[in-house]
Amino acid sequence: MRLWPSPFLEPRGFPDISERAQPSYPLASRAGVEERLSRILFSAATVLLSVLFSSHTKGTQKERPAAPVQPIPFSHRTHARLGLACLTCHVMPEPGWDMTYPEEAKCMDCHGTIKTESPAILKLAEYYKGRKRVPWVQIYKVPDYVLFSHKAHYRAAMIACEACHGPVAERDVIVEEKSTAMAACVDCHHEKGAPVRCNYCHNPNP
Ligand code: HEC
Ligand code: HEC
Ligand code: HEC
Ligand code: HEC
Ligand code: HEC
Repeated sequence: MRLWPSPFLEPRGFPDISERAQPSYPLASRAGVEERLSRILFSAATVLLSVLFSSHTKGTQKERPAAPVQPIPFSHRTHARLGLACLTCHVMPEPGWDMTYPEEAKCMDCHGTIKTESPAILKLAEYYKGRKRVPWVQIYKVPDYVLFSHKAHYRAAMIACEACHGPVAERDVIVEEKSTAMAACVDCHHEKGAPVRCNYCHNPNP
């Protein structure tokens, strides 16, 4: 029984009666035509599948890239509901390049008494007592040859954190949901009439 002409198993050189009785294929045997057709369909299906698959993975990565495992499961949503402003924890020390991560003492202001039995808070307290920084995994990062100042954007240009980091206060887990690629910087610079000349962002002496 033949369900589909196989490009690999097709017997060659033994045309059956039905093939000889086909007048419309005087030179190519019907088996040969079917063979080529099934090869073409086979490779077309492979290409289609791989295109579909790769665009699917790209699409999901764009929406929510995988979150790195943080040493302590800190939730911005939980803490934003307490009315804590971003700059309570991200203090933007002078000269304002970085926002930095909060001092463990800041966390312990509350967690000295709140949820002290929770395994996550016990771990936090251990870092604090050992005078060690919690090794948070940095999510938003640009290479060293790029100049980026938080102060210039947040204070001078008055751009909200959310414009570059998404709705952080609604997130339990932070992922890179906004691009830090060159195109993203340049797009906004065009939009706001900020300079786009190369050495505006590229440090000539990194
Ligand atoms: C203003 C007080 C306050 C500060 C400051 C604070 N937290 Fe919290 N945190 C809370 C409250 C309130 C909860 C919710 C407790 C609950 O679920 O009932 C909480 C919950 C948590 C939890 C979840 C604990 C669990 O097991 O449910 C973690 C982890 C946590 N905080 C870590 C931190 C870290 C890390 C910092 C410093 C970067 C920090 N917190 C700063 C008040 C605070
Ligand atoms: C209670 C302290 C606290 C408050 C308040 C807080 N954050 Fe954070 N934030 C953290 C901690 C701790 C981390 C590191 C863990 C993580 O990535 O979730 C962090 C990480 C981040 C990151 C990821 C940085 C990176 O690239 O690694 C962004 C962006 C951020 N916070 C923005 C905000 C914004 C915007 C607000 C105000 C809506 C805010 N945070 C309020 C403690 C805080
Ligand atoms: C114009 C876009 C933009 C705005 C506005 C912005 N950020 Fe960032 N943020 C970035 C970029 C780009 C990086 C990566 C910087 C690097 O690698 O030096 C970053 C990194 C961070 C980091 C981790 C590294 C660090 O700086 O310590 C934190 C935390 C952070 N941002 C929090 C905030 C908070 C909180 C606000 C608002 C007060 C804010 N950002 C506003 C673009 C922005
Ligand atoms: C949401 C809009 C926006 C985004 C995104 C953005 N910028 Fe800007 N940037 C501005 C504006 C507005 C200014 C202020 C221009 C002025 O002072 O006239 C500025 C200023 C700057 C400056 C000058 C700082 C100074 O000291 O005066 C640099 C450098 C810069 N941006 C680099 C970057 C880089 C690198 C990125 C991407 C990682 C980026 N920007 C993303 C809007 C943006
Ligand atoms: C508004 C800021 C900004 C401006 C203006 C800008 N760049 Fe960039 N550029 C970036 C950022 C941010 C990156 C790093 C992107 C990343 O994370 O890989 C980058 C990366 C690059 C890279 C490395 C690309 C790679 O794939 O490794 C080159 C090359 C480059 N830029 C050239 C230029 C040239 C040439 C100009 C002028 C026509 C220019 N840039 C203007 C922000 C800028």
